[in-house]
Amino acid sequence: MGQSSQKPGLRPFLPADVAALVEIYQASVMELAEEDYSEAQRSAWAEIADDESFARRLAEGLTLVATLEGSPVGFASLKNNEHVDFLYVHPEAAGQGVGAMLYDAVEKLARARGASRLTVDASDTARLFFEQRGFTPQRRNTISLGDEWLANTTMEKRLTAPEDERRPS
Ligand SMILES: CC(C)(COP(=O)(O)OP(=O)(O)OC[C@H]1O[C@@H](n2cnc3c(N)ncnc32)[C@H](O)[C@@H]1OP(=O)(O)O)[C@@H](O)C(=O)NCCC(=O)NCCS
Repeated sequence: MGQSSQKPGLRPFLPADVAALVEIYQASVMELAEEDYSEAQRSAWAEIADDESFARRLAEGLTLVATLEGSPVGFASLKNNEHVDFLYVHPEAAGQGVGAMLYDAVEKLARARGASRLTVDASDTARLFFEQRGFTPQRRNTISLGDEWLANTTMEKRLTAPEDERRPS
């Protein structure tokens, strides 16, 4: 992985992707969330992907896989047409626009399906990323995972205006 000269690709999730997405999720949590959560908290968060319900969540949502040179490097999932259930990028591919591309695709999908809003339970690591995309914080949550407690923020973005009208001319 690392810096790639190729543009990332995007495709729908396939059941055969599960192992690669578990790896991306766990590496992303352990490395990219390091400044915001303790090691014990990140381990508890990463362990979610060891449960068989993880594959089910990926399959039940509208899950998109980002690829670099054909290999999965990130993924995002839209649940019930209005909730961003996952947005994770492998640390070796972070900072190259993969997360932004995944998010844009999820927002387009939600708009195409008539959603009037998008919500996300944003990690402290991703909160600014979502603020930069028009989300506003609604409430702070404290989640119990194993022996650990993790905080996140439910955020919302209204999707009422057509995308083009929101852009400054
Ligand atoms: C949040 C995350 C998905 C961003 O992915 P990424 O591919 O690195 O992001 P991009 O390279 O597309 O960056 C897009 C923009 O967001 C900014 N950005 C990326 N990560 C950011 C972060 N953690 N905090 C603030 N800004 C961030 C970038 O600077 C960039 O800004 P620009 O458009 O002005 O240049 C990634 O950091 C990640 O997987 N984090 C850990 C898992 C996590 O917390 N997921 C969210 C669960 S709700």
